[in-house]
Amino acid sequence: GGARGGRSGLATAAAKASATASRGVLRTPGFSTKKLVIVMVGLPARGKTHMARCLERYLNWLGFTARVFNVGEYRRKFLGATQPAAFFDPSNPEGARARWELALECLRDMTNWLEEGGLVGIYDATNSTRDRREVVRTRLEADGVRVLFLESICDDAAIVEKNILETKARSPDYRFVDAEAAVADFKKRIANYCVGNETVLDEEQCSYIKIINVGSKIILNGITGYVQGKIVSYLANAHIMPRAIYLSRHGESEWNVTGQLGGDPNLTPRGRRYAHALNAFIMAETKKYAAAQPRGADEASDDDEDDSRSVEAALPLVWTSQLRRTRQTVAHIPTINMCWRALNEIDAGVCEGLTYASVAETMPDVAAARKADKLRYRYPGGESYVDVLTRLEPVILELERQRGPVLIVAHNAVIRGIYAYLMNKSQSGCPSIDIPLHTVFKLTTRAYGAEEERFPLDVEATYNNRTPDSDNADEAQEGGEAVDGAEALAPAAAPAAPAQDGKVLSTV
Ligand code: F6P
Ligand code: PEP
Repeated sequence: GGARGGRSGLATAAAKASATASRGVLRTPGFSTKKLVIVMVGLPARGKTHMARCLERYLNWLGFTARVFNVGEYRRKFLGATQPAAFFDPSNPEGARARWELALECLRDMTNWLEEGGLVGIYDATNSTRDRREVVRTRLEADGVRVLFLESICDDAAIVEKNILETKARSPDYRFVDAEAAVADFKKRIANYCVGNETVLDEEQCSYIKIINVGSKIILNGITGYVQGKIVSYLANAHIMPRAIYLSRHGESEWNVTGQLGGDPNLTPRGRRYAHALNAFIMAETKKYAAAQPRGADEASDDDEDDSRSVEAALPLVWTSQLRRTRQTVAHIPTINMCWRALNEIDAGVCEGLTYASVAETMPDVAAARKADKLRYRYPGGESYVDVLTRLEPVILELERQRGPVLIVAHNAVIRGIYAYLMNKSQSGCPSIDIPLHTVFKLTTRAYGAEEERFPLDVEATYNNRTPDSDNADEAQEGGEAVDGAEALAPAAAPAAPAQDGKVLSTV
């Protein structure tokens, strides 16, 4: 078949991709550019697709081009979304043949994509029998691809039931079916898959990760290489509980007004007003969040003091950089905050303290090289965006571990990096994401990506954030310009997928 035919092609493609990869991805000593396929394994409603998409987002953000190939989508595309449970009965030969053909078609597309330069394919299907895994594994290995099985096992009936309800509610397979009939059909489908379901065995001679009961236990076998190590640490930290993550740049600083890069300046009076507005915003959000938390009967009370204690307990974790301007911005929020060095602004090296215009004038080669490749360009004596993303990774893993809300107050380049991760944006687009001052981004993580709301707080600020347009049209809103109110802070060029507007809180 096509997959085998591509063998030598893949080897050449791997060589080509490694040349490209060494420019684009984290240059990690010992990182092998051999392609990897993560073969998902498990019964329906075990969270495979959710895991697959989270890994895809994480790996892409790290710079390892990854893509999910989902067999269910091929079934819907070629056979329609309305196949009844009987289609998945292993004793139904037509159904079994059709499913196998679809699985192979999807596998071929994935192999072609790897040949064209993809690095990590994620093969999202049940792959619940040993025979099927054997064919998939040997085909991929014949193409010089490493294979990692990622199995999700869940024998906790309550978790499965919850998953069924969620999966059924979202699944395009049941869009036109009423809820009760959908759940009943889906349970029959699962029962069909249980026949012949085999967990991955050591005899299959492969690397595997088994996630048992949503991560309460993890079993590893034969994990090798940098990317597989990353995948393990990601899976050990991530969980699927929805929660709010608030992102904001610091309030307007003295150097935002003068247009100077970096440094450790103080907030301006307007920046200090933003610090108050941010506190009021966070307190209002926390009150809503606390009210929505289930409380034990013994905790129920009419007492105002108790209420304010429960609001305090519900405050987000607050993470800032170690620079004055972010710490001053969270000064009024009545909670302990953690200052991360990893959240400090991009180090502009020899350009620290200069304006974009003076860089262009005195170091035109620096300005031109940065413009040509803003993602990878490293300021002499300073950092590139790739450097910033690399140091943000522990912050991302810690963020994944948290179960409650988190507020991160940091800087332009840093917030771009975190936003790119949460919103599934590619590395290459990261340096031109528009993150205006005095705006809170509320990102709520969901099973299939985060939901975004923007809250421009009503405190005027310098607009000094360069959009993709201004990057091309030669810099420099030198010193920026003061604009009235939040509305005017909108970027000149609207982003491709406009954010859902949040409420504007007038707090000052
Ligand atoms: O101008 C504010 C600032 O945070 C600078 O300190 C930093 O160098 C810059 O933004 C990063 O933005 P860009 O990468 O677009 O130059
Ligand atoms: C599917 O059709 O939804 C599917 C995942 O296919 P398979 O069980 O064959 O992997």
